[in-house]
Amino acid sequence: MEFRSVKGSDYYVISPLINAWWGGRQMSDKLPKLFFDHFQNTSFIAEQDGKIIGFLIGFLSQTHPEEAYIHFVGVHPDYRKCGVGRQLYHKFFDIVKKNGRHIVRCVTSPVNKTSIAFHTRMGFAIEKNGDKEVDGISVYTDYDGPHQDRVLFVKELEA
Ligand SMILES: CC(C)(COP(=O)(O)OP(=O)(O)OC[C@H]1O[C@@H](n2cnc3c(N)ncnc32)[C@H](O)[C@@H]1OP(=O)(O)O)[C@@H](O)C(=O)NCCC(=O)NCCS
Repeated sequence: MEFRSVKGSDYYVISPLINAWWGGRQMSDKLPKLFFDHFQNTSFIAEQDGKIIGFLIGFLSQTHPEEAYIHFVGVHPDYRKCGVGRQLYHKFFDIVKKNGRHIVRCVTSPVNKTSIAFHTRMGFAIEKNGDKEVDGISVYTDYDGPHQDRVLFVKELEA
């Protein structure tokens, strides 16, 4: 497996795959091309034999100088639970630390139990100040708009 930075043309390969990789959820419109054009220094592709098997789209916060944010991570269904997601996250953590930042945030939908399990295993804490609980997890109702509830994750990186 090899890792490289994202490039603009990756959008045309990855976008058509997203809804299937997310189990049929309509997710591709949440990742427009701008992310592939303007966040290349902090976004990564995992490839095997020239085929894209995973990707991470993240960025350094413009507003919070100690923070970075992971917007999307996806691994080809045939390559899951083999450490691809973990390695993509560590690539991101390394570049975040090189930029003098130590806090990483991301959000996920409460229905995405895989994402909640993955982020928990990756050492993220769940923000506890949501307004309700779903399966014992604190959830922020309508966080991303009507009916768009979210679980909020935060991780402090070790120096
Ligand atoms: C979430 C996702 C990126 C994980 O990628 P992955 O390559 O399978 O994850 P890894 O193999 O690197 O696993 C890292 C850790 O998470 C755990 N994990 C991964 N998937 C899990 C699952 N479905 N249930 C429980 N734990 C899981 C692994 O066991 C591992 O923990 P460990 O090293 O302590 O044993 C992948 O399942 C995916 O693409 N899902 C669909 C898209 C998605 O929901 N993305 C996240 C929201 S943006």
